[in-house]
Amino acid sequence: MKVLVTGGAGFIGSHIVDMLIAEGFEVVVVDDLSTGNEGNLNKKALFYRLDIQHPELEKIFLKERPDYIAHQAAQKDVRVSVADPIYDAKINILGSINILQNCLKYNVKKVVFASTGGAIYGEQETFPAPESHPLKPISPYGITKLVVEQYLHYYKVIHGLDYVSLRYANVYGPRQDPHGEAGVVAIFIQKMLNGLQPVINGDGEQTRDFVYVEDVARANVLSLKNNTTAQVFNIGTGTETSVRMLFNYLKDFINPSIREKHGPPQQGEQKRSVIACDRAKEFLHWAPSLDLIDGLKKTYEFFYKRSNQDAD
Ligand SMILES: NC(=O)c1ccc[n+]([C@@H]2O[C@H](COP(=O)([O-])OP(=O)(O)OC[C@H]3O[C@@H](n4cnc5c(N)ncnc54)[C@H](O)[C@@H]3O)[C@@H](O)[C@H]2O)c1
Repeated sequence: MKVLVTGGAGFIGSHIVDMLIAEGFEVVVVDDLSTGNEGNLNKKALFYRLDIQHPELEKIFLKERPDYIAHQAAQKDVRVSVADPIYDAKINILGSINILQNCLKYNVKKVVFASTGGAIYGEQETFPAPESHPLKPISPYGITKLVVEQYLHYYKVIHGLDYVSLRYANVYGPRQDPHGEAGVVAIFIQKMLNGLQPVINGDGEQTRDFVYVEDVARANVLSLKNNTTAQVFNIGTGTETSVRMLFNYLKDFINPSIREKHGPPQQGEQKRSVIACDRAKEFLHWAPSLDLIDGLKKTYEFFYKRSNQDAD
């Protein structure tokens, strides 16, 4: 069986590629390397460097004839989406439609889509939010993910294309970009490792649901293999952790002498985010396997090793 992973050179996509290859799937990656990194690419995957919006995408479908798609490529930065909603919508909506049209033309069996459990619900009314929570995104990024879920519904109902949409919580782990605006775990770890002071936005009481990247990759692989007719799943832990708590967990094992430093709050930042994952447990037989402290330690070990290699 062959899987085309869009965004397979990125943080989450590269872990999905590794897991699929370990399970014996053939893997093709399409990635334009806009935020991804060739160093993340598994050598056993066939790589095409291309923008998902490009008409040449069809040639790859024609040549490779993938059975499944794991669609991870996206403009994923909420702040970029606010600054340039047209750029964001082109990649996230038009790029996705380009993929889905090719799925129909080349008889793809199923698409697994990387949606968001952080941005799709907007400011939550219930904690943790189940999949049935009202969908009121408060960023262009969240809107594009919701729109693609609606396209997936259309393609299923009208054209019979199977899909699963996974609404990821805040994903963290090895290979996350520590230099971007998103990814507070990677940013804090890299700063602490470099002896720099991480800055907590506002009072740090904003909460997130942190899920380890290999657990997210496993949810993707299970979704490809599973015959469930349920289509939308939250993928998180159901546990709410404040940014201050996160800072203190990390400093305890990286550098206990670092003190908290607070900066101005980020305008428009969501206050609380935590999602319920009972549906994924029931239908995908998926549950997070690592608790936060163990996941943070594994992530730290990755960044520690990488910074030593860079120094050699
Ligand atoms: N990281 C999180 O916490 C999180 C949470 C919810 C949803 N998601 C979603 O998961 C997916 C993967 O996110 P990530 O954190 O691994 O980000 P990432 O930036 O590391 O990965 C995205 C990959 O897609 C590629 N890409 C971007 N635009 C492209 C285009 N037009 N054509 C081809 N390739 C393109 C990038 O080069 C990169 O390799 C995204 O769809 C994102 O919206 C991530």
